[in-house]
Amino acid sequence: MGGAKYAAEFELPDMAHAVLVQSTIAAGKILGFDLIAAKAMPGVLVIITPDNAEKLHNLKPAQQKVTYPLLQNADIKFNGQHVAVVVADTFERATAAAAAVRVHYRATKAVTTMDQAFSESVTPKNFSNGRAKPDSQIGETSPILPSGTLRVEQIYTTPIEHHNPMEPHATIAHWSGEQLTVWTATQGISGAQKALSSLFGLKPQNVTVICPYVGGGFGSKGNTWPPAVLAAMATRQVNRPVKLVVTREQMFTSNGYRPRTVQRIKLAANPDGRLLSVRHDVKTQTSMPEVGEFAEPSALITRMLYSAPSIGTSHRLVQVNHGLPTYMRGPGESSGAFAIESAMDEMAAALKIDPIDFRLRNYAERDPTADLPFASKALRECYAQGAAAFGWEKRNPAPRSMRDGHMLVGMGMATSSYPTNRMPASASVHLTADGSALVRSGTQDIGTGTYTTLAQVAADELGLPLGKVRTQLGDSRLPPAPVSGGSMTSASVVPAVQAAAQGVKAQLFALAISHGGFQWQSVSPDVLTLIDSAVDGPAGRIGIGQLFTLAKIKQLNATAGAQPAPDANDYSKHAFGAQFVEVRVDPDLGIVRVSRWVGAFDCGRVLNAKTARSQLIGGIIYGMGMALFEETRIDRNTGRITNANISDYLVAVNADVPEIETIIVDSIDPISNPLGTKGIGELPMVGAAPAIANAVYHATGTRIRDLPIRIEQLLA
Ligand code: MOS
Repeated sequence: MGGAKYAAEFELPDMAHAVLVQSTIAAGKILGFDLIAAKAMPGVLVIITPDNAEKLHNLKPAQQKVTYPLLQNADIKFNGQHVAVVVADTFERATAAAAAVRVHYRATKAVTTMDQAFSESVTPKNFSNGRAKPDSQIGETSPILPSGTLRVEQIYTTPIEHHNPMEPHATIAHWSGEQLTVWTATQGISGAQKALSSLFGLKPQNVTVICPYVGGGFGSKGNTWPPAVLAAMATRQVNRPVKLVVTREQMFTSNGYRPRTVQRIKLAANPDGRLLSVRHDVKTQTSMPEVGEFAEPSALITRMLYSAPSIGTSHRLVQVNHGLPTYMRGPGESSGAFAIESAMDEMAAALKIDPIDFRLRNYAERDPTADLPFASKALRECYAQGAAAFGWEKRNPAPRSMRDGHMLVGMGMATSSYPTNRMPASASVHLTADGSALVRSGTQDIGTGTYTTLAQVAADELGLPLGKVRTQLGDSRLPPAPVSGGSMTSASVVPAVQAAAQGVKAQLFALAISHGGFQWQSVSPDVLTLIDSAVDGPAGRIGIGQLFTLAKIKQLNATAGAQPAPDANDYSKHAFGAQFVEVRVDPDLGIVRVSRWVGAFDCGRVLNAKTARSQLIGGIIYGMGMALFEETRIDRNTGRITNANISDYLVAVNADVPEIETIIVDSIDPISNPLGTKGIGELPMVGAAPAIANAVYHATGTRIRDLPIRIEQLLA
């Protein structure tokens, strides 16, 4: 209905417009600017360059929430780096003047692709935000293997991918005295508040971040990227509100990407299909250290997915002259599952064992590397229910054995898993005499339905119809909540909403007992319920409105926080799934079409079937993009991205997507949070790409280990 207002859509009086100017070289130094022509153009208010940019505070590349550079020096570390910001009275005038800015550089030798520095890889300094080590090993590093051992040793690669949310990154910034207000597209208003207050040397309460709706993030809006900071810098210089919208082309250089990965897998199994050893060594791209560090944690999934006496993993980084990579939908698990789940399929084929059966023979009853029990795991049910719904038993295991007319038919499957994350969060609930409630939390709805699920949980607790509960979020003045990343918003925020609603409920019960009349005085609150907007108990019913009148109050409020249980770290916490795919491959043209999909998932308790399914199919479609279409291409000579638009960077569109059947298996996680949810957003992308690659192998007999799967690979 067009009712959702995105960051760029707020109108402030007297608003100026900022446009970014970007480096055209990949490495070197800025020698100087020629701004005479640009400054003379109509409407230009200021041109900010490293020569006149505000000096920022607390510039530490190790600080993960902020990324660099921010016009603080003349060094160029990648092609597309922001080198100037032009502010003018209209967007068109700013764009025209930005095109007239001339930059003089001294170029130095750049590393534009991973292979140019592949042997000089380094160990990540801050792997997985310090929550995991880059390397792991259980059992012998190189166990002695009996004769008859089957081995698979292969390299799997995934390309640079860009998130490409429909809504570009955009910020409107406005200073008033010492108070900075920004309307910005972000997955984390709290993080943006921290980052901006730290950079501008302000108290956090002097920065307000507003983001009522996010038009897709997929990880690209998790950090506070330079354009948001530069918009805030610009508004201070012109003393007017400033809007900065990142263009689609700039979206490829301004807010992260999934880095390229080169993953070596070594599997050994005995002829009965028992894994004897598993190795997963990852090299992945990061930027130059002055820009920051990000390590795609692709081998984390291999540490917990299957049981084996020897499991070893490592992660190394290759520093390249590109912007900082970042989280992208299922960071680590999505790219890592392509490698391990392709290799598992290769091993199953070598063993002549059904791929599901092979996985079941190595089913991890507990997390082998963490050596902890799983908080909950219903993966067996995912395999069984998914296989039944898909008709897996109709699969002839021989590659190239199934046809539909001229088309080769392939059936493939893969396992999915993603960690169940949770962070401290808080929320408040406000109840008024007309029996309507307002839920507030400083979280954000990244398109997953957070508004709806928070209202639902409060309505349930308070015995109110859903239409009487409103949700307010996306404002840093509200009770703080974590970043909407790592699929953890429900697991983190819903328990806080539930606790706040319970706080209001307890107050209502106390009021009923104190003001309900003599027959209520001896009633224990334990026997009371809130139902149909009334307190209900052995002494009768009192409507909420009536109770407010009796107690002479106008409203009730409660604020509550919620955090992971103290024993949460005694468990390995993950969601699981099984992906089943049918593909049709044209044997003459090499064209792959996905024709059927069944995904069965153990994602804990589901709060809302409709929004859950929507997340599941969204993730699966993203996985189709990863398998068949998505790849950011770099010109080796210049380090420039050559397909920085969404006609050359391909994503799965409606015509690529068949009917998708999703199954949610019965599972309530008893550990991760009081509601028993796990998390959905990223899980359905994991395993999607290898399931397609495995189906393509089954259809054609050709194993593709380099994504995306392209026609020329199948015709080779
Ligand atoms: Mo997600 S890639 O943690 O936003």
